[in-house]
Amino acid sequence: MSDASVTPRHVAIIMDGNGRWATQKGWPRLVGHRKGSERVKTIVRAAPDLGITHLTVYAFSTENWKRSTEEVLGLMKLFARYIQREAEALSKENVRMCFIGDRKRLEPKLQELMAWIEKRTENNTRLTLTVAINYGGRDELMRAARKLAQQAAEGLIDPDAIDESMLDGALDTAHLPPPDLVIRTSGETRVSNFLLWQAAYSEYEFTPILWPDFTPEVLAEILSRFGHRDRRFGGVKT
Ligand code: FPP
Repeated sequence: MSDASVTPRHVAIIMDGNGRWATQKGWPRLVGHRKGSERVKTIVRAAPDLGITHLTVYAFSTENWKRSTEEVLGLMKLFARYIQREAEALSKENVRMCFIGDRKRLEPKLQELMAWIEKRTENNTRLTLTVAINYGGRDELMRAARKLAQQAAEGLIDPDAIDESMLDGALDTAHLPPPDLVIRTSGETRVSNFLLWQAAYSEYEFTPILWPDFTPEVLAEILSRFGHRDRRFGGVKT
């Protein structure tokens, strides 16, 4: 069992490698995404017992629209199916499901499902699962800046009063603590526009494992390494 004093509360994951996993096996990329979606379920189930209270996963970036129409539509279908098929289990397991990202570009039916599951699970407290769809850190910061500028233009806030906490509150992640740990699978070592503001002091872990092969055991191993790190948040060791 993990030591609560060093267990990250909020773990964020860049789930990379679905396409390569499928291609290596001679299967279409969407098979990799389907398997990846199964992995999300497994990790959501395992997370609370590992001491995690907030799990954020990067499912679709603002750049992912550049992929083929077939892949984009396939992913959107997977998101809708996940919400429909997991609704019961999430409620039973006391998991709150939320989304970050700009929803306006998503199909109205998917937007409805997202709002529905958020409402249905809003009082659940064991784990907060946040799924990033049409999410980009720069896009999120731009939308937050616009929101605050609009409020200032309407005379609702004083521009000089804008501080870090006000900006925090204008971000999609206003409901979340900052991530303690960001994990990226598949051997890539980029941040890829994920939680740019929020991860300012996060630890990063990069694993060569492709997301469809990621298991609770791998996660537990990464968390145990996290326990040995010395997080100083810019200060000095006391
Ligand atoms: C990156 O791998 C993965 C994605 C862009 C999609 C992530 C989606 C899922 C894991 C499935 C659905 C998720 C939920 C929450 C239901 P890649 O395709 O870029 O892999 P590659 O780099 O090997 O091509």
